[in-house]
Amino acid sequence: MKKEKRLITAALTYVNNIPHVGHIVGCHLPADIFARFCRSYGYDTTFVGGSDMHGTPSLVTAQELNIPVEELTGKLHEVHNQIYKKLNISYDIYSNTHTKTHEKITTDFFLELNKKGFISEGETEMFYCEHDNMFLPDRFVTGTCPKCGYENANGDQCEKCDSLFSLNELKDAKCKVCGKPAVLKKSKHIFLNLSKGTEELDKWIETKKDIWRPHVYAEAKKWVNEGLKDRCISRDITWGFPIPLEGYENKVFYVWFDAPIGYISITKELSDEKYKNLWQDRDAKIYNFVGKDNIQFHTVFFPTMLLENGNYNLAHNVVGLNFLNYEGQKFSKSKKIGVFCNALIDDNPEIDVDALRAYLTTIIPENRDTDYKWEDFKNNCNSELVGKYGNLFNRSLNMIKSYFNCKLDYTLDENNLNEFDQELLTAIKEMPTKIAESFEKAELREAYKLIMNYASIGNGYLEKSAPWKLMKEEKVEEAKKVLYLCLNLCASLCIVASPIIPTKVKELWSNQVGLEGDPTAVDMWQYASQLLIKNGHEIKGVQPIFERIDNEKLEKIKAIMSEPYEIKEHF
Ligand code: MF3
Ligand code: ZN
Repeated sequence: MKKEKRLITAALTYVNNIPHVGHIVGCHLPADIFARFCRSYGYDTTFVGGSDMHGTPSLVTAQELNIPVEELTGKLHEVHNQIYKKLNISYDIYSNTHTKTHEKITTDFFLELNKKGFISEGETEMFYCEHDNMFLPDRFVTGTCPKCGYENANGDQCEKCDSLFSLNELKDAKCKVCGKPAVLKKSKHIFLNLSKGTEELDKWIETKKDIWRPHVYAEAKKWVNEGLKDRCISRDITWGFPIPLEGYENKVFYVWFDAPIGYISITKELSDEKYKNLWQDRDAKIYNFVGKDNIQFHTVFFPTMLLENGNYNLAHNVVGLNFLNYEGQKFSKSKKIGVFCNALIDDNPEIDVDALRAYLTTIIPENRDTDYKWEDFKNNCNSELVGKYGNLFNRSLNMIKSYFNCKLDYTLDENNLNEFDQELLTAIKEMPTKIAESFEKAELREAYKLIMNYASIGNGYLEKSAPWKLMKEEKVEEAKKVLYLCLNLCASLCIVASPIIPTKVKELWSNQVGLEGDPTAVDMWQYASQLLIKNGHEIKGVQPIFERIDNEKLEKIKAIMSEPYEIKEHF
């Protein structure tokens, strides 16, 4: 049978800063867990990601640091790449949107839209600095708020009184770069005719009603129902790809025009074959994992671009997530509120990446905003990873070691199974399927819960069967049977947990349970419901796989991860 082709994408991250865990749970981690599941389950899986290089925020930061924007984004791109590697985000490629391939695909994409009549021209008014000879994006302009009189308001909004206003209302406008007065000036721009594509878009959205999560569908419908307005896709800045039209020499594409096309060009960087198979063959399925503030772009703006262009597949599912808070507050780098990922770069031994991945899985904001709490991080480690998952391995392996000198000479006799054995066998047969159903729906928190329940079934079975008692009563074969079944459950638990704690399951599989191969390899899932342990199997070792976290250790980890990355110190 031909395997279903799946392309999984995680939103391309801006590189004006370093990610905090909100970014991780808001798209990289769920996309990774889903991609790992897809590989294990046997789908022909490709997982792409990258840095979103263009846009004003990077330009502003570069100006503040007085360095070229290429240097800033190039270096931060590498730091992002490193952090995702440390977190074991299994990108098949992590590229960026400032490549030749991407420029070519973006330009062609635009020319096709233009040829098909979806681009129009218009004029808008913007602040301009006659000293620096440049148009000033909102963030480059400061002045006095027309509502409250605050003197450091931005171009179109005041952070003191939160009001929004139009450009000509701002008083005393000044250029942020040189401090001289800014003036309003007219400028030509190009617009994408979103309105022309509305009907087709709406039809497409309707086909997603039962596939997308309700909040994603609702947001898409809200935009369509409000009526789509044509959208300006050019900017008067110097950072981005040039617009290939006469009269637009000093303008570049709006960052949200080129960024999502990045998914296409990054796939093409992998290979021409993947590009064709995933973006042009109609039977490929694309899954976009995106944070809350990206939902409209992936359900409305980018799909309309794709529909109007006509040469590419649209997403099968847009897995839109919500926000993560920190101990009830918003993440804030400047106030040092949050959990930052730069600590991962130095391979700090206090940080167990899989323990972190596991906790983060429990707070993926799938259906509502969620909260990072250090106390929950500790409890998840101690009661789930150590208490349930690790405990089953530890007890089973320890008994095999001490009672049978690491070797199980045993063949299962189907006629000699009691009610508890039967229950355990049923669990091995059925739980992997149940867990797969949750992964398949990208309900990753539920999948994690089921995995922990699965381990608990094993612990319950050990309690009820009490091999230590059987040994005392000299029922050696009975004790072997119990441990044989538990060891099979351990093997199965390695496979089903591989999308979430990939490093630990490899370690358990090879160096403790003592199996050949790799539980994280493609197509492994089918073995999760089989009895993999052969007569005469030898285990390799016993070691607690997760370490308990006490308050002292928690404080250490907390201190390490609460320190934000200061860009200034690295340039
Ligand atoms: N850079 C954007 C953000 O971080 C996301 C871009 S996603 C893409 O919010 F689709 F444009 F690539
Ligand atoms: Zn100026």
